[in-house]
Amino acid sequence: MEEKIKQLRIEHITKRFPGILATDDVSLTVDEGEILALVGENGAGKTTLMNILMGIYQQDEGRIYINGKEVRFRGPEDAFKAGLGMVHQQYMLVPDMTVTENVALGYQAAWKPFHLDLDMVRKKVIEVSEHYSLAVNPDAYIWQLTVGEQQRVELVKTLCLGAKFLILDEPTSALTPQETDELVSLLKRMKSELSIIFISHKLNEVKALCDKVAILRHGALVFSGNTADYSSNDIAALMTGHEIVLPENKEVWAGGELALSVKNINVRSDRGFLALEDFSLDIFQGEIVGLAGVSGNGQRELAEAVNGLREVESGTIEFFGTDLANKKPYYVIEHGMGYIPEERNIEGIVPSFAIRENFILKDSDKDRFSRHRFLKKKEISRNADTLRQSFDIRTPDTVTAAGSLSGGNIQKVILAREITRAPKFLIAVYPTRGLDMGAIEFIHQELLKKRREGIGILLISEELDEIMNLCDRIAVIYKGKIQKVLSHKEANRRRLGILMAGLDDGSGEEA
Ligand SMILES: Nc1ncnc2c1ncn2[C@@H]1O[C@H](COP(=O)(O)OP(=O)(O)OP(=O)(O)O)[C@@H](O)[C@H]1O
Ligand SMILES: [Mg+2]
Repeated sequence: MEEKIKQLRIEHITKRFPGILATDDVSLTVDEGEILALVGENGAGKTTLMNILMGIYQQDEGRIYINGKEVRFRGPEDAFKAGLGMVHQQYMLVPDMTVTENVALGYQAAWKPFHLDLDMVRKKVIEVSEHYSLAVNPDAYIWQLTVGEQQRVELVKTLCLGAKFLILDEPTSALTPQETDELVSLLKRMKSELSIIFISHKLNEVKALCDKVAILRHGALVFSGNTADYSSNDIAALMTGHEIVLPENKEVWAGGELALSVKNINVRSDRGFLALEDFSLDIFQGEIVGLAGVSGNGQRELAEAVNGLREVESGTIEFFGTDLANKKPYYVIEHGMGYIPEERNIEGIVPSFAIRENFILKDSDKDRFSRHRFLKKKEISRNADTLRQSFDIRTPDTVTAAGSLSGGNIQKVILAREITRAPKFLIAVYPTRGLDMGAIEFIHQELLKKRREGIGILLISEELDEIMNLCDRIAVIYKGKIQKVLSHKEANRRRLGILMAGLDDGSGEEA
């Protein structure tokens, strides 16, 4: 195998996309055994810089050195060969293939002249997963795995390909808090053997894991230093240039009619078990109800069942008196449902469509945007400019394909569309995943504004601070059932944590 990576150095890297300087003269060094945090607002250029390191994009200017020698990567294969490996923000696994088969896709040594040596790959998967205590089942299909398990598969895959230098692009944004803790301690153990660049919007993780921190703003490196010398607040201030104060829901509920009434529904998961069992929940206009729980306890299935994306075996979903159970998504949208889905790149946008088209996906036949089946281009463009400005979507123009936006900005496109198309009710599933802190502040304000306008909101989240700051009532879900419903006043971290783990919080009365 190749020599160790004792030092990775980039000098004066610049990359332009049409209308935008994505990376602006960045120089950085990472030494052996070091973990560097790369942080910055959505669209700051983190992913782009890493894609350049991996040979996915070519820089316009600048050089990359490994152990003092200049390297030029024409594609990711060259970067793999040099010992670099990246786990992408968007997982790149093939759902219909097993773990072993997915690893085999990139595993050159297994591609023999007339056959693919899957046994060899399988052994390697087991060897690597044992070496790093990364539990994965080599024979499981990707579609059977939770997000946390898929994350481990991505890591195993990267390590099987011989990575000595790991780049992790927001590896924790879709993990449960427990999975995040596990990953952080795993990476700490790995650091004796590897160097790591770790991208995250969560500064507590950065503090817990990383030796150094580098901050990008508008593509340029604006700060780098030792993590130990700065508090999370210091780093946040350096990153955004202003202090972030998350708003809180302090007003009493003004009253409102029953909006969504889910009664005794049974819904199955993709894997066939009952993800929701005899599940019931009522939400009224003008209140935010948080559904707290460790992800994988039925949250996704609830959101999909209500939005016509999953079969309901029994029970009813009354929405202002109309039963939505087993209705088509279009029917649900027509009845005034707003929906911010979990899988933003699959369910939320059409990546190849322009940003401005993605804004009107659900309203293209409305009088405002079309007439006799002809689209009103001016109005569509005006709408897009307004949304881009108010949601601070970082893009040079709105005719760009939505798929080329940064991860956080894609999320903002969906949020902007769903919040402003004036729904009668809103279901928000992990709405702030992958957003920078300034964007989280803004989205929280928007949700509270909707509430004040009298709209009911179901907020599905794992972030306890988010739930406690915003919600009038908090329903805790565990294994497809409501464990208990608490009022804003009754809720605290400890109590929610206990209920989310499926335990009795000792207060006697049941939900
Ligand atoms: N293929 C592309 N074509 C055009 N523009 C692009 C492309 N890839 C990235 N960009 C632009 O480059 C800028 C930096 O994006 P990048 O994905 O690197 O941000 P990021 O820091 O990773 O943000 P996030 O935290 O949201 O993931 C953005 O303005 C983005 O729209
Ligand atoms: Mg990114």
